[in-house]
Amino acid sequence: MTVEPFVQSSDLIKKGDINMNFIQVDKEKCTQCGLCVNVCRGALGIGTYGPEVIKQQCISCGHCVAACPNGALDNLNSPLKNQVLLKKNLNLNADSAAQFLRSRRSIRSYKKIAVPREKISKLLDIARFAPSACNLQGVSYHVIDNPNTLKKITEITIEWAEEKYKDDTSTLASSIKTQVDNYHKYGIDVVLRSAPCLIVAITDSSMMSIGRDDTHFALAYAQLYAPTIELGTCWAGFFENCATSCYQPLQRILNLPQNMSVTGGLMVGFPKYTFKRLVDRNPLQITWE
Ligand SMILES: Cc1cc2nc3c(=O)[nH]c(=O)nc-3n(C[C@H](O)[C@H](O)[C@H](O)COP(=O)(O)O)c2cc1C
Repeated sequence: MTVEPFVQSSDLIKKGDINMNFIQVDKEKCTQCGLCVNVCRGALGIGTYGPEVIKQQCISCGHCVAACPNGALDNLNSPLKNQVLLKKNLNLNADSAAQFLRSRRSIRSYKKIAVPREKISKLLDIARFAPSACNLQGVSYHVIDNPNTLKKITEITIEWAEEKYKDDTSTLASSIKTQVDNYHKYGIDVVLRSAPCLIVAITDSSMMSIGRDDTHFALAYAQLYAPTIELGTCWAGFFENCATSCYQPLQRILNLPQNMSVTGGLMVGFPKYTFKRLVDRNPLQITWE
């Protein structure tokens, strides 16, 4: 196979733009069909010999390489050798995919056993493949499985809620006060549901907004994947609200690097119960024009 760096057309490339030469084309395989250009967000164009870089727009998404029907293209930013050839025989149809998606449940009762760290790593390894703005992939994780720390996080979140909502008469506040009562009266861990593990998603504080969006996708992937490795999850919204309010006692216990902020939390554990039915939800609301 002759894979050689594509000769860039000099009128399109600014002098000194050394980062632009990241496309390699096997000229024997390339039919110049333009598919790689069509799936790209704007970095590639079709030149005399096939695709070439026309703008500094590559976000290393790998689409150009993944879409090429002939395996003719390589991109140094997202190498062909790191891509996986798709199997055609995945037995997923509209019904099985719908059942898979609808079967995801928020788990609020966990077995009192620890989750092996390898399992958590496996779970989060799938979250890497969720979409991220500009393919930035800026979400990382701080995983807490120390029972004392988890207990402390719940206590601190409860303290925060009591302080924050004490003079608040809104519906949200009254619901939170009921939860706080349940914690004090019955010892129910209304914050982390006594889960043996909490995944804290974090991003650089300078990109909090994008980081939160990316976190939601990433942790949704983890939530969907979890049951396939016997795990259950639940979004830790109560904890997240406390963490994103920068409550000092919680910040101290999380002890994150100074430039990092919390963008989400996910409880994880082995579910205590199994669900026998798919639940119903509000009817679809949709408008057309
Ligand atoms: C942003 C967000 C925050 C949430 N926070 C909590 C939480 O703090 N505690 C909890 O038990 N469930 C929490 N949930 C789970 C929802 O209550 C749950 O998704 C909803 O009841 C529907 O159930 P299902 O996820 O099983 O379909 C949260 C969900 C979302 C999307």
